[in-house]
Amino acid sequence: MEHEFNWKFIDKNGTFICENASEVNQLYFPICNEAGMKASVTPFLNGDAKKNQNEFLYLPVSVEDLHNNRSARNFWVYTKEQGAFSVAGNSAKQRAEHCFKEEEKRDKVECGLLYHSLYYTIPELKLNCSFTTFCPANDDVVEINRVILENYGSEILEFVPTAAFPIFGRSADNLRDHRHATSLMQRVTMEKNGIVVKPTIHHDERGHEPNDTSYFVYGSDENGQAPVEMFPTVEEFIGKGGTLDWPETVVKNSIPKHDFTYRKDGMECIGAMRFAQVRLAPGEKIEYIICAGITEKENFNKEFEKYNSKEKVEVAWKKNEEYWNGEADKIKFQGNSDKFDGWLRWVGIQPVLRKIYGCSFLPYHDYGRGGRGWRDLWQDYLTLLLQNPMSVRSAFVHNMKGVRLDGSNATIILEGNGNFQADRNKISRVWMDHGVWPLFTLLLYINQTGDISILDEEVTYWKDAQIERAKNIDINWKKEDGNNQKTKNDICYVGTILEHLILENLICSLNIGEHGNIKLEDGDWNDQLDMASDKGETIPFTAFYGKNMCDIADLLEIQMEKEERKTISVFEEMEILLDGLTEESQKEMEVLKKYYERIRYGISGEKKEIPILQLEAMLRRKGKQLLQQVRENEWIELSSKEGFFNGYYNNDGKRVDGIFTDGKLRFGLTDQTFSVMSGAATDEQIQKIIHAVNNYLPDENTGGIRLTLPLGDNTWNFGRGFALIYGEKENGGMFSHMTTMYAYALYSRGYAKEGYKVLKSIYELSTNTKLAQIYPGVPEYISSRGRGMYSYVTGAGSWTIFLMLTQVYGIRGKLGDLLIEPKLVKEQYDTREVLTVDMLFMEKEVSIYFYNRKRLDYGKYQLGELSINGEVWKKQINSTSVVLHQSELEEKLVTGRKNKICIELEERKR
Ligand code: G1P
Repeated sequence: MEHEFNWKFIDKNGTFICENASEVNQLYFPICNEAGMKASVTPFLNGDAKKNQNEFLYLPVSVEDLHNNRSARNFWVYTKEQGAFSVAGNSAKQRAEHCFKEEEKRDKVECGLLYHSLYYTIPELKLNCSFTTFCPANDDVVEINRVILENYGSEILEFVPTAAFPIFGRSADNLRDHRHATSLMQRVTMEKNGIVVKPTIHHDERGHEPNDTSYFVYGSDENGQAPVEMFPTVEEFIGKGGTLDWPETVVKNSIPKHDFTYRKDGMECIGAMRFAQVRLAPGEKIEYIICAGITEKENFNKEFEKYNSKEKVEVAWKKNEEYWNGEADKIKFQGNSDKFDGWLRWVGIQPVLRKIYGCSFLPYHDYGRGGRGWRDLWQDYLTLLLQNPMSVRSAFVHNMKGVRLDGSNATIILEGNGNFQADRNKISRVWMDHGVWPLFTLLLYINQTGDISILDEEVTYWKDAQIERAKNIDINWKKEDGNNQKTKNDICYVGTILEHLILENLICSLNIGEHGNIKLEDGDWNDQLDMASDKGETIPFTAFYGKNMCDIADLLEIQMEKEERKTISVFEEMEILLDGLTEESQKEMEVLKKYYERIRYGISGEKKEIPILQLEAMLRRKGKQLLQQVRENEWIELSSKEGFFNGYYNNDGKRVDGIFTDGKLRFGLTDQTFSVMSGAATDEQIQKIIHAVNNYLPDENTGGIRLTLPLGDNTWNFGRGFALIYGEKENGGMFSHMTTMYAYALYSRGYAKEGYKVLKSIYELSTNTKLAQIYPGVPEYISSRGRGMYSYVTGAGSWTIFLMLTQVYGIRGKLGDLLIEPKLVKEQYDTREVLTVDMLFMEKEVSIYFYNRKRLDYGKYQLGELSINGEVWKKQINSTSVVLHQSELEEKLVTGRKNKICIELEERKR
């Protein structure tokens, strides 16, 4: 019997059931809530749970630990006749007996937004078990586990149930730093319903701190009945020679002796509890609730009362589903494929997941110590802001405080507003792409809402010892000085958000290498390009900064027009930088040097008024020059049909891409994406890029578009990425984030059919379940073995929804007005005649219906009749796009119910 991994949706909410999940060792599902619980669960109930790096409830796991580690959640039943069974099949005996066997599988997984249910059958006992894990949608940092056991046999079944949830209860650092010593610091309290573990201190040799955090496991049966026996230490639970997957107290149904060698404090702990023996008549069921979590309260006893019955758990589960479905419903697509729409629901919550998990806390994401990276934060907001346009304003304002006077920024964003950390590993470094993202996201915000006043908000700058873009250290700066940039008079300096945006884009635009492109510094979007900080240059981000400079010029123009402004105010030293815009490019580095020298010991705090008209022209000129540099000097023509942009110069100052003397061709997708998206590429170049990408980048095994062609071995002159095996991650994997951005770039330049193909390929690879072996969603990359890697937390999630809404369905704001420009291809209609999308605009719920009764392809249609809430707004639009003005919408859209906008797609006349 073949056991093929497979899932399928069972409703329109994205709920799916999965066969043979237990055959995939790397599979995990996220369980979390906004209160901060960050857990994962596998088909064997493995996976960890934590609040942050220093507060791990369960043993920290990386992906390999998912099969390697026995410290999983578990629930046992013991019968006198047949012995011990895990209700998840996770006992040494069950795994040995059923693994690799051609028998009917005993397990099935069902997942929904956002819960994980494992169904497992124990035929020996004729017992059906289900084990559901979710987090409540409230302030409790807990996971709730609901176990239901049903006797499906024809005889009475008697058994002893035992829950076993090993508690790590301390910092992840203590896994390899004083694991034993920190176990000696554990103190255990036994409560009626559970076990609470509290370390006496937070152990960290760099500075121990008092600990206020407790870790707990509480349990009851469906009627609130407490356990009859508890085993708070691993040693007594498993016995001196037992294991967590064959624990003595369960296997022998014994109670360990408590002689003088026994103690519960200062041990490795476990929330293990035995409930009263059960007698289940045929058809009868019994339930247990195990609630495990992290609290700063003395204990969680009182709170546990919220969950200690069947009814209460049902209510918490319902609320959890409502919460997550509410998130997924904010932007909801209905096309011709329920599977695609269901997949998009999971993709749509991925940015929310990254908000919660950061980039550190899922089994593949075992790097860093929490928090979100700067570029990830801004890109996740593309979707988060489309989902909740008005609620993100203050976050944006606070996040701008991360920018330094040298245009670089603190790279890690911690929980709470305006909480940063300079670097994940305390390394002085600069990723040169960071400056592009705030403007890109803020432009979307300004367009969606029309709120240009955000540019005038005044915020501080970040200050630490790192100066001159990590090339120097300010020896005068001390930690006690705090992280706000001060003036020479020791006053916190504040400048407008517009000033921050100009500064970070301007400095990068002047940071030019010997070939005329912007310097790569310690890397760009591609984290792996971290070994070319002297002579490295990046073409894709030269293009991106070029576009940004033009976009800032546009913003200034708007300020002049809408607000009749004549000048803008900036800190006086910034004027030096403007010299770099008027001089020859050779002087740019000198200008930067002069500026750094001037601000080395702080700034005066004096402001200077700069004429907008002049500034606008200077920025635009520079922007255009950067775009031209890419367009003209970095283009490599392969034939009359194919060509591509070079991506980089390495640390020897040599071109990375091209056709080399050994006949090998080398280029990557990043370069093509940003030159298309930024407008650097001409239409002719785009067509050649499309051919080259389709011809050379697809992986011959999977068909996925690779991020790069092989560079060869790591030669210490470009980046660590080339130490990875080819075909994985940034070294030639199908890197979903970039592929999605490439699709976006194509759509944005009007190449919808080509963009659709790319988008579809990401979807198909991610849902080619047999190979990808992941649950629905877009993974960070697809390996050349077809595997979906690093599930759930990736920038591709946000970009997919952003792309679908603003380009594919073509609905986006334009300074607060609503622009509709659908780029739907025929295939998306198939047999349907209408596609719909639900979204929020001007804080009102809007459903937009696109009728394509003749199934016309993109390029063949224009907009015909448009009606709002049943009333014809215009009979004939006669164009491929339309703008509905804010004032009109104000009048026509109602609050409190869905507004329906219907549009007919008709044959294009011109
Ligand atoms: C990850 C990082 C992102 C980086 C990218 C490429 O991407 O989070 O910052 O730009 O690798 O190195 P993601 O997993 O978000 O797709």
